[in-house]
Amino acid sequence: MIPRRFSDLPEYAFPRLRALLERYPAGSETIAMSIGEPRHPMPALLHETLAAHGEGYAKYPPIDGTPGFREAIGGWLTRRFALPTGTIDPDRMILPLNGTREGLFMAAMALCPAEKNGKRAAVLIPNPFYQCYAAAALAVGAEPIFVPATAENGWLPDYTSLPEDLLARTAFAYYCSPSNPQGAVASREQLGRLAALAENYDFTIAFDECYSEIYPDGPPPPGGLEAAVAEGVSLDNVLVFNSLSKRSNAPGLRSGFVAGGPALITAMNRLRSYAGAPSPLPVLHAAEALWRDETHVEANRTLYREKYALADEILGGLHGYIAPRGGFFLWLEVDDGEAATLRLWREHGVRVLPGAYLGRGDPRFIDGMNPGTRFIRVALVEPPETLRPGLDAIAGILRTTTNSPSEATA
Ligand SMILES: Cc1ncc(COP(=O)(O)O)c(C=O)c1O
Repeated sequence: MIPRRFSDLPEYAFPRLRALLERYPAGSETIAMSIGEPRHPMPALLHETLAAHGEGYAKYPPIDGTPGFREAIGGWLTRRFALPTGTIDPDRMILPLNGTREGLFMAAMALCPAEKNGKRAAVLIPNPFYQCYAAAALAVGAEPIFVPATAENGWLPDYTSLPEDLLARTAFAYYCSPSNPQGAVASREQLGRLAALAENYDFTIAFDECYSEIYPDGPPPPGGLEAAVAEGVSLDNVLVFNSLSKRSNAPGLRSGFVAGGPALITAMNRLRSYAGAPSPLPVLHAAEALWRDETHVEANRTLYREKYALADEILGGLHGYIAPRGGFFLWLEVDDGEAATLRLWREHGVRVLPGAYLGRGDPRFIDGMNPGTRFIRVALVEPPETLRPGLDAIAGILRTTTNSPSEATA
């Protein structure tokens, strides 16, 4: 017997893409621009530390990681977000994750009730969004609320303007900045207002920050912890999630962390002690070394900056193109995302993702329309020489779309 609670989940985006494209041959040699899998070299430090600590695979690792791991993360958060000394108590406020995906899911399992104030609990989700959020909401029997993140609101969901009765039953909220897929970056003030909202309405806010280290020239994207501190809000309702997948080009290492309010971390740790998969000791050692090092991160950013520049060069000025402010995706407005995806594949062998596969229609907002329908998501992970012909083909699509220029900038 299979439970019905997940029956609302559509097929995952990538099997859907395969089903869409497999009916036709690629028009040319394939150019992969659909999956956000980093392709830059992994740092040597990763290989060295893993090799040096290989004997650790002989032991069951502690679920809350090692003191060295927690201290490295605490130090990184404090440096990166200029947190006042003492803001982070590593032993009470940090846990390792096997990548942020499982942690984002598990956080809802540990912290989101099915009911709040006598009503079905609501989970706020940006729309379009990283698909794990919706599965997490359904897993706990809460109602996912898909809040539009469109040009009209600067590509970020505005939770502060949601109706009072909805906020009163909100138990958990996901927020992604820099955002996947739009590459929008929330200001510190926006993040602070969200932390304050979470405190006022007593829900947990999960800031998904896994793209925080990938950004063009200019100041680094702000984070949820610094914003809460600046706003004078306690961290009791705040969690931030980050990962080595993008920062250190190690998506297969499965290493991330969650940091935030001690009571939230304690509750997550308790559930994880029963049901979580601990991060292996060699992975914890490697992660510790990587979070202490910024040299490889700067080198990684330099490679992405070349690609931002390439996208600007080829797509700049075309309707539908907005230079991302963070992350490695382009979110491009076309007439019909699925049709554009098929055309790119059949005529050029370029594989992108229809935006609709990352969005959902929600009857409460924008007439129930899926905000991704007119978009494609393009991943800038391959080297520039591979991306160039792909972006040229995409420029051809943008030139023939009938859409008008987007009014807002991401
Ligand atoms: C927005 C967002 N959050 C979380 C993740 C999960 O990353 P990981 O589990 O590798 O840390 C991804 C991965 O692509 C993502 O795009």
